[in-house]
Parts: sequence; C-alpha cells; structure tokens
Amino acid sequence: MPYDLTDEQRDRYRATSVRSQLRKQAYLRNHSEDAPVGGIKLGQRLDPEDLMPQLDQNGLTSLSLFSGGGGLDIGFERAGFAHRASVEILDVCGETLRANRPSWEVHSGNLDGDVRSVAFSKFRGVDVVHGGPPCQPFSIAGKQAGAADPRNMWPDFIRCVLQTKPRAFVAENVPGLLDRKFESFVQQNIIDPLAGGYTVFRFKLSAHDFGVPQARKRVFFVGFRSKKDAARWIEPAPTHGDVATLFGPLLPRNTARCALGLPASDFDVVAPTLRSGFTGPRNTTGVLNSRAALKIWNGMGIWPNGVQSTASKAAAYPPENGHFRMSVADCALLQGFPSSWRFSGAVYQALGQIGNSVCPPAAYAVARQVARALKDGE
Ligand SMILES: C[S@@+](CC[C@H](N)C(=O)[O-])C[C@H]1O[C@@H](n2cnc3c(N)ncnc32)[C@H](O)[C@@H]1O
Repeated sequence: MPYDLTDEQRDRYRATSVRSQLRKQAYLRNHSEDAPVGGIKLGQRLDPEDLMPQLDQNGLTSLSLFSGGGGLDIGFERAGFAHRASVEILDVCGETLRANRPSWEVHSGNLDGDVRSVAFSKFRGVDVVHGGPPCQPFSIAGKQAGAADPRNMWPDFIRCVLQTKPRAFVAENVPGLLDRKFESFVQQNIIDPLAGGYTVFRFKLSAHDFGVPQARKRVFFVGFRSKKDAARWIEPAPTHGDVATLFGPLLPRNTARCALGLPASDFDVVAPTLRSGFTGPRNTTGVLNSRAALKIWNGMGIWPNGVQSTASKAAAYPPENGHFRMSVADCALLQGFPSSWRFSGAVYQALGQIGNSVCPPAAYAVARQVARALKDGE
C-alpha cells in the first residue's frame, strides 16, 4: 500500500494480506499454476474489437518506437496500416509482440531494441512513425524533471522522424506535457527541431470517449510533412458520451462492471485510470492509482489489488470483502485490448505493459484520422 497509513491500518492490511496468501496457497495445492482460464463471471459484455472494426489495408506502413505491449501497434494495425517494425527495449514486451504477431519485425532488448542506438535510415520510406516516448519525466506521478531527466527520449523520437522523413508521425504522452510548465520543453524539443519540415497538432483524448470502460487521458502530437495533408487533418471525434451531437446521440459510455460481465449493481461507472507500470512499488500486482480511485473501485465492488494470472485463480479466492478479484485479462479488457491479445511475463509485467499502453481504441481513432488525411490526398 503506497499511501499514508496509520500503524493500525498497516497492521490490518498486512494481516489481510497474509490470510489472502494462505488462501491462495491452499488453492494452489490442488490446482496447477497454469490452470486454464475459466471463472464464475457471467461473461464479458464488451468486445473491444467492436470498438475498432478491422479496416482494409490502406497501403500505408507504420514504424513503432517504444512499442511496449503494443497498444498503439494494435490501433494502427486495425486502422489498416501495414506494420513495418517495432523497437522496444524490454525483452518481455518484445516477447508479447512476437507471440501475438509472429510475422512482425520486432527489435527488442538492450542490444537490438534501444531506440537511442538505432540507425533509422534503414526505415526510410515508411509512411508513419508512431511511439510513446517514456512519460516519467512529465508524469505527475514522477518528479516532472522534463528535459533534465535521463529518461527523456523525445530527442530520439525526433531523430527518427528527421532520419526517416515519414509523411506523418504520431507521438503519445501523459497530459502533464501540455502543462504551462513544459511549454518551453515542447517548443525546444518537439516543435523547433521539426520547424519547416512538419506541421504539428497537439490535442488530448479521453479513452472513455472511444468506448474504453476506463477514465484515461492522453496527449497526442500529430505531424504532417505536406501542408496539404496537414490541411486535411481532423481530430478524432468522440464516439461515446452523454451528449447529443450534430450527427445524433453518442453511444452510451461503457462501464466497468457491465464490460466485465458482472451482475448489475447500483453503482457502475468507467473504471479509474489503471496504475501505470512506472508508479508505485515495482512488482506489484495491483492497478490502484490513488486513494480517490479506491473509493470508486470499492463502490463498484471490484478489488484493484492482487490481480491474478487467470480468471479461475481470481475466482478461487475472492477478497475478504467479497468484491470481484480481477485477472490480467480483466485489466486488459478495461484498457481496451482485444481478448485474443496475450501478454508475456509475470502478472506484474503484464500489468506494466497494460498500464503503460495507449488504449487500442483511442490509438485506432487517431490512426484512422491520420490515414484519412494521407489517403484523401492521393
Ligand atoms: C509509455 S510506454 C509505450 C507504450 C506503447 N506506446 C503502447 O501503446 O503500448 C514506453 C515504452 O518505452 C520503452 N522504452 C524506454 N526506454 C527505451 C529505449 N531507450 N528504447 C526503446 N524503448 C524504450 C519502455 O520499456 C516502455 O515500454
């Protein structure tokens, strides 16, 4: 528990955790660690693939940097782009990408997957470069050191754009990057180096406006090399929400309990933002982000800690308060990943890949608009 606790609260949590471990061990004595996915849920009621229907190949290629567990990659693939390659430093992320898409060119690990040492000229001719440079330097969960932070990878993203000269690029980051505090960082590190070469747009998207059953905001920078393509750019419009638009009402927001297929309850809203792999203690198997979020999870009767590798394990030892314990697949669903997408690694590694990702339906919405701007001009 990373939050301020009294000694008495801490003792209580510790005792609960010990009892929970004992129940888990008792369960595992009779079941294998690799028990097949099963469970007592009524069955998920949201299929994220419905939020991003597979579009025909659009004849455009995309190169993915800082690919993580593949959120942006999936969105671009479903929007009809042909995958050129992915570059990601963590081996476990590379394993996820290769296991799900054996035909993809995936560069991963310290030797082959470090964006800082890639000679990008070999990817010249690619139509779109996309990526989410690590966001700790700007995240409110971090110290917001920006350019001074050694994890600032924007210079390498920009170097890739300058070396490959794509027709467009898409870069994603945490909303903190649009704070006034980072205005000069954005100007000096993103806008100035591309000046004269690219017209750059910046905007925020909320994943729940695109049907994802989770509150999650992200900022996007989209750049076009040609002024004509830039003139055709239109930001993605929400598909889900509470208001009527010119074109009719939006679809109702998807809520967490309903999406997970849990019985109806008085309180069901979009899930709080799932913890990103870079906040809180490492190796945790929880997705809890804040004290305020705990109230919402509690209200919905969903337990955001002790996520399990499979639904059957999660169902085998419900938490003492009787709330629904989640599996990795449940968290992936709340992030908008297709149910066929599998994450490699231990539970904490899978949650890290999920929590760090761009929700695929939001990525899809951006990728579609980029393709529209590029294709209309041909
Ligand atoms: C915010 S996550 C990207 C998530 C991804 N865009 C998605 O949608 O799933 C940033 C990723 O950058 C990776 N990364 C950090 N430093 C890197 C480097 N030097 N080279 C390549 N990847 C790096 C991290 O391992 C992490 O997976």
